Amino acid sequence: MQLTRIEQLLQDTMGLNAASIGSSAIQRAVRERMRRTHIDDSERYQQRLESSPEEMRELIELVVIPETWFFRNWHPFQALKRHLEQHWLPRAGERRLRLLSLPCSTGEEPYTLAMVLADLGLAPDQTEVHGVDISRYNIDTARLGIYRQNSFRGDHLDYRDTWFRQTDDRYHLHPDIRDRVRFEQGNLLDPEFSRDRAPYDVIFCRNLLIYFDRPTQAQAIDILEGLLGRDGLLFVGHAETGVLAGRGFRSLNLPQSFGFHRELGTAGAAVPDAPRLRQSRRSRRTPIRPRRQPRPHWIDQREQAVAAPPQSAADPGVEQLEQATRLADDGHLVEAAELCEQLLEAQGAQAQALYLLGLIRDAAGEPEEAERLLRQAIYLDPAHCPAMLHLALVLQRRGEARAAQRMQERLERCQQREAANTR
Ligand SMILES: C[S@@+](CC[C@H](N)C(=O)[O-])C[C@H]1O[C@@H](n2cnc3c(N)ncnc32)[C@H](O)[C@@H]1O
Repeated sequence: MQLTRIEQLLQDTMGLNAASIGSSAIQRAVRERMRRTHIDDSERYQQRLESSPEEMRELIELVVIPETWFFRNWHPFQALKRHLEQHWLPRAGERRLRLLSLPCSTGEEPYTLAMVLADLGLAPDQTEVHGVDISRYNIDTARLGIYRQNSFRGDHLDYRDTWFRQTDDRYHLHPDIRDRVRFEQGNLLDPEFSRDRAPYDVIFCRNLLIYFDRPTQAQAIDILEGLLGRDGLLFVGHAETGVLAGRGFRSLNLPQSFGFHRELGTAGAAVPDAPRLRQSRRSRRTPIRPRRQPRPHWIDQREQAVAAPPQSAADPGVEQLEQATRLADDGHLVEAAELCEQLLEAQGAQAQALYLLGLIRDAAGEPEEAERLLRQAIYLDPAHCPAMLHLALVLQRRGEARAAQRMQERLERCQQREAANTR
């Protein structure tokens, strides 16, 4: 099946870069839609797609990745709470605090924001929380406010006892939290979506930009900037901070929060850009010696592990890796890269340090070096899904479609194994 045109249509409509989920995933979705619409010729299906917005919506439902959970990565929500306590509450006045979770998937993220606001003692009429996602199915699920075990991960689960009522294998969200969030189906890239929208004080846009190519990422940041108020905060996913490089955002300086302020009047100063990073080329020549196979982690732990302390604190590399992650998070990419290199030199190759260094090199406009580092991370930890995802994106951007496709397929197998393990 020739997918190029359909992939292009998906990219134009929702920003999806086919390399990020793999052509085979798109192919499966197209086959499924052809089966349901009784169209057995892919050309005819493509024509249907071009002429029918409803069919495009149906196809989108099958290609979106709805993976999410409550308090995902934990630290951003703690950072937000602290920021609001220190900076917003003292001068709140009559104005409502406006928060946006986009993409909100099945609602876990905006409901988490609502729990944070409730914990701060803010009344529902002092805040507005909006959850937006392109998927109608996700929005319908979010509105129900009923969840299964899979939406609760990690060690901090006290909130579940406070805000949920359990029946059999379902958890029903308390109406006090449910009613604080307004959901809406919407596409970030659709100009209608942002038109005439009042600015937000806080935007969570996590784990969306990784599915876009570079130009679409830049377009998305423009849109988010337009949606953000003057003193607004933007939170992105840990693998997405590089997208903000040179875009006039300053890190919140709260560890592992991946939260940014708008940099007023000094666009571009927030995150070091490529020329600055290249200063550290000298130490990048450090030879890397493979030493040991790291223990495989769960994917959600690994997502945090870019920043969160892995394994035992007695390991001297752990602290250094944590510090490197903090530096990268805060936009000090040169220093973060140097620390990673020192760590690799002192301790031998470690998948997580190589992965972090790979992200930094890619953000610095050094895709070949990024590729080398990411490949090495995967060699050391064959279950390192984030490294596979990022490598597929790097390869796709370099025009190596077949290699990107193979990496994507490997990622899919890896994710399937992860999912089987978490069940
Ligand atoms: C992996 S989830 C992220 C959810 C949440 N932000 C988190 O980090 O847990 C990605 C979501 O992006 C949504 N999405 C994809 N493209 C979109 C677009 N152009 N506009 C709005 N939502 C989109 C998908 O429907 C999916 O639910």
